[in-house]
Amino acid sequence: MQQAIAVLDSGVGGLTVVKEVMRQLPREKILYLGDTARTPYGPRPAEEVVRFTREIVDYLQQYHPKMIVIACNTATAVALQDIRSRVDIPVVGVINPGARAAIGRTKTGVIGVIGTEGTIKSGAYETALRMLSPRLEVVSRACPDFVPLVEDGNFRSAETHRVVTESLASIKQGAMDCLILGCTHYPFLSETISEVMGPEVSLISSAEETAREISTILHENNVLAGRDEVPVHQFFCSGEPRKFQEIASAWLGEQIRLTPVVWRVPQLGG
Ligand code: DGL
Repeated sequence: MQQAIAVLDSGVGGLTVVKEVMRQLPREKILYLGDTARTPYGPRPAEEVVRFTREIVDYLQQYHPKMIVIACNTATAVALQDIRSRVDIPVVGVINPGARAAIGRTKTGVIGVIGTEGTIKSGAYETALRMLSPRLEVVSRACPDFVPLVEDGNFRSAETHRVVTESLASIKQGAMDCLILGCTHYPFLSETISEVMGPEVSLISSAEETAREISTILHENNVLAGRDEVPVHQFFCSGEPRKFQEIASAWLGEQIRLTPVVWRVPQLGG
């Protein structure tokens, strides 16, 4: 049986990474888990996000994936190192790829970052960006209202436009020419975000660069899918399946095979 790339997120956000992995690596099988029962992760304490991420990884490990992709910035910020120390397969996050993509694009050296409260509080993007280029100016804002809109499938309404306009008002800045969508849910709102930020600001999603990193690692480890593979992807979600199925199928342009997951241990505060 073909070994899969296991991808996780708090909900539908990681599908923005999955879509790009499918485009760049069409023979690779994807296992995706969206923890929709416990979304959003952004406002939760770091220890709780680490615990949830461990739980998802343990669940996905029963399928013996060849790699794990933490397609959630909030979980990458607080749990990447922890997960790497617990498993013996490569683990990829989305923050370094997003930072690399922005550095490759900015001309003014002023980069905006928007993400969940957890990601922005962690300072993980500033750290990643400054490691690559110490003299950058980085302007960050948490946008806690975006994830619920995306999980509702509310991508282009007047309400979405209002929320995005209000949330981004304080980050619109003279010299900023790149805005990192530092939450994998945000590319679902990219048309609205782009309208609000204006044509001078490029929106940077980590999806493309993350898919490139996945490709490089699979190649280096000599575990790329064979030429004749026709992958059958598998999706899991822990919450109400109908909305997830609808958003995922529309976004990926294909009907998905979805299996509900019920967490065995009741979650405190979850
Ligand atoms: N999509 C996730 C991220 O990239 C999580 C959003 C959330 O659950 O708050 O941060």
